[in-house]
Parts: sequence; structure tokens; C-alpha cells
Amino acid sequence: MIKMDVINLKNRTVGSQYVATELLKQMKRKPDTVLGLATGNTMIEVYEHLSELININQVDVAQIRTFNLDEYIGLSADHHQSYHVYMNERLFDHNKGWNKDQIHLPAGDASDVEQECLNYEQLLNEVGPVDIQILGIGENGHIGFNEPDSSFESVTRVVDLTPSTINANSHYFDNVEDVPKQAISMGLASIMRAKKIILFAFGSNKKEAVQQMLNGDITESLPASILQRHPNVEVVLDDEIYRFSN
Ligand code: PGA
Repeated sequence: MIKMDVINLKNRTVGSQYVATELLKQMKRKPDTVLGLATGNTMIEVYEHLSELININQVDVAQIRTFNLDEYIGLSADHHQSYHVYMNERLFDHNKGWNKDQIHLPAGDASDVEQECLNYEQLLNEVGPVDIQILGIGENGHIGFNEPDSSFESVTRVVDLTPSTINANSHYFDNVEDVPKQAISMGLASIMRAKKIILFAFGSNKKEAVQQMLNGDITESLPASILQRHPNVEVVLDDEIYRFSN
């Protein structure tokens, strides 16, 4: 088994700055970098720092390709809770030069969602591999929207969200009933094809999941545990989770 690199970066702010800097370095090194991007609360400050770093370093983003992990089914690209809007508001709108043709998120409002999943996976295969994939982790150990018991062989597909995920994400919506019950998500096998993965977690609600990911069995009941099999994963933690998992 390969040991994952785990670093204690004290808190959310320092961790976010680190993750943003790693992305920036990769983008400077390779102007047509393929980035695997994530959303959620975890990445808010990462994108704040990254968009600022892109501007002050005058990085040309015109050739950067991006693939987001997931999107809610039923939400259009201009729906204010969609991950399309999240990405525009948190990152893409802050820099000149992003080429919208090279920014990819699954279309949650596609008329044929099964076909959309096939197309997304195919595009990921054609354009990839992803150079750096960033990941958060769910309290239940999900990565992307690959909920417990997702197959390690899974690729982009329609997934049912668990009550735990619906509940965790409900504070972004007016009420819990408004949270979509399904999403399109890159699969675990799709994620594992990335050349490098950086998983970032902070806050006490993530400590059990991270502890199991690092030290537990490799099992589909904790999807993030598959990362123990990836040769190039960095896990960035706050002090609390780091201490708990060591
Ligand atoms: P969060 O979600 O960043 O909103 O905590 C992370 C995840 O569920 O992967």
C-alpha cells in the first residue's frame, strides 16, 4: 500500500492558500493544464486565493481546461444553487481570459442525463488525464457525489444523494426539500485517473471520515478510502483533523 502524504496546515486559511498555490504553480508550469475542480464550502477560500493569485501573477488562463466533479440534476446552468453559478461566481468571473469552451461541468438539466454522463466521461478521457484533481470529503466519506457503496469501477453517472448529503448541503438552499435528490457525478474510477490528487479537509465534522480514509480498510463503504491506492495523493488538513487521525 502506498502511504499518502498528509500535511497539517493548521487551519482553513493556511490550507486554502496552500491548495490555491499548488494549482497556480501547475497552471504556470503548463499553460494547457487540465484541472479537476470541486465545489462546496471547502473550496470557497481556495478559489478566493486562486483568483487573486492568477491576477497578481498575470497568469494566462486561456488554454487551461477544467472539469468539475459534479452537478445537481434538474438545475440549469444559471440556477443560483447550481455548481455552474458557484464556479462562475467564485472563480471564473474574477479573471479575464477563461475560455468557456474549455470549462466543463456536467449539464444537470440535460434532456437525456444518461447520454450527458456518457458524453462527459468521453470528453474527460479525450482531454485528460487531469493534472491536478482537488477534492473535499463528505462526512460520510464521499468524494465527488460518490456516496457510500459506490463502485470503485464507477465512471460519470447519475447518482442518488444520501440523506446525510442532502442534509449537509441544505444550508445552501431555502429549505431541505429544495435540495435535488440526484446529481451527475464523475465516478471513483474517473477520479483515480488524475495524475495528482489534493484532498483538503477542515472542521470537526470531517474528522471521522478522514481518519477512516487514512487508516481504515479500503472499502466501497467509505469511497474516499480508494485514494490509498493512488500513487500521488496529498491530504491537506487542519490541526484538529490532523491530530485526530494520527
Ligand atoms: P463541503 O462538501 O465542502 O461543502 O463540506 C465537501 C464534499 O461533500 O465533498
